[in-house]
Amino acid sequence: MIPFEKGLPFIGNFLAYQKDKISFLTKMHKKNGDTFKVKIGNINLTVVTNPEDITRIMQENFNNYIKKSNIDQFFGKKNIFLSNGEEWKEQRKMIRPVFKNEHIANFIPLIEQICEEEFSQLEECEVFDIQEFFNKISFKVITSTIIGNEFQAHYQLKEHIKIVTDSLTQMNSIQNFALLYKSKIKKRDKSIEFIDKVIFKIIDDKKKSKEFSSDALSMLAELSLQKDSTMTDKEIRDQLVTLIFAGYETTALCMSWLTHLLSKNSPYQVILREEFKTLLNTSPLESTPYQTVDNIIKESMRLYPPGWAWSRVALKEDLLKNHKVIAGEIILMSPYLTHRDPKIWDEPNKFHPERFQNEIVKGSFIPFGYGPRTCIGMSLAMIEMRIMLKHLLNRFELIDCNHSPVIKPQITLDVVGGFIIGLKKRPA
Ligand code: HEM
Repeated sequence: MIPFEKGLPFIGNFLAYQKDKISFLTKMHKKNGDTFKVKIGNINLTVVTNPEDITRIMQENFNNYIKKSNIDQFFGKKNIFLSNGEEWKEQRKMIRPVFKNEHIANFIPLIEQICEEEFSQLEECEVFDIQEFFNKISFKVITSTIIGNEFQAHYQLKEHIKIVTDSLTQMNSIQNFALLYKSKIKKRDKSIEFIDKVIFKIIDDKKKSKEFSSDALSMLAELSLQKDSTMTDKEIRDQLVTLIFAGYETTALCMSWLTHLLSKNSPYQVILREEFKTLLNTSPLESTPYQTVDNIIKESMRLYPPGWAWSRVALKEDLLKNHKVIAGEIILMSPYLTHRDPKIWDEPNKFHPERFQNEIVKGSFIPFGYGPRTCIGMSLAMIEMRIMLKHLLNRFELIDCNHSPVIKPQITLDVVGGFIIGLKKRPA
């Protein structure tokens, strides 16, 4: 029997979890070890942190574990992120071409151009919130790859998507207390209305214009116009909002955490600048030459994985290392916990990118998920981050402002109050 933290009658550990999800889970992990149960509101969660079980759930027996989430209220059920079984396989096959390296290669000049434009406008500053800046660049990149180069008209989408997704995560564990959040629900519904109006118009315009290029909207609109297609505009809308959300905030957060860590570990700024000098004529599509750069990005994602937790529901019973799963059981996996487990990582809380020069135990480093449902945008995200990092460090020295970001996990590992650093211009 694994430990079961039942908490208070009716609400379980709801209050402690709502107050600080990461601290609560970290405390439970330390106290109870690899596998334990917690009650949050009326939901029992089995938390699984060891790499063997993660490999079992996410890869070896992955058909037994499905995604189920109330965020489908907004994203729809029929999209790549939330669908399951045969439907998911079809969705993944359909979307995959947009994220293949040959295809991403088309977007590299655009990403470079966006970075050039944005970084050239960035001024030297003693106290600067870098998160908003990366949100902007990342949103530009993602809207260009997903809906074409139409960013200017749709920048407001970003704010509304954030309102909706934040509100949905808060609801996730508190379905019984939804009444308390009446005004938030109203605000959220208004945002959904706005997003739908914009997205349905984009879809309509694209279909009417029949001018298709290499973005995801073009690909989906073109498919939907084929003779035997049953794809509706609602399905295209669901895919687009899912891809935009999955792609922009995660990448922006990763860059923000990385910048924060580099400001506190300045020798790595020097190492990176030297590396980028040797990579001047190397395409960011080629991973091998970027190993040193990538190890530093990976170490940031190990400490602060933007997708900090996800869940699965078991269809049938299964045997894990020290726990028998029953049908219907909800399993929570969190890279944040696994990435900081001292049984797996030496000095887990220390920023030490060189650790990635050694072989990594499978299932222990999972910032992009694991198995067949690994993040479809992983290559795009890594390429985008290599390019952003190059521009940032070419132009600026990052200065530590003694600021500690205040973690407030939502669907992603978000913070309140931003990431405050100093920017000192480097000679051109
Ligand atoms: C640093 C940036 C990123 C991080 C850390 C990240 C993280 C993740 C994680 C952890 C998962 C797995 C979730 C699960 O198994 O429940 C995932 C899946 C996914 N990601 Fe990303 N992601 C990033 C960037 C992107 C980008 C740029 C896109 C593309 C627009 C994207 C699109 C997706 C999609 C569509 C899935 C679902 C795949 C499936 O279920 O088949 N992500 N991501």
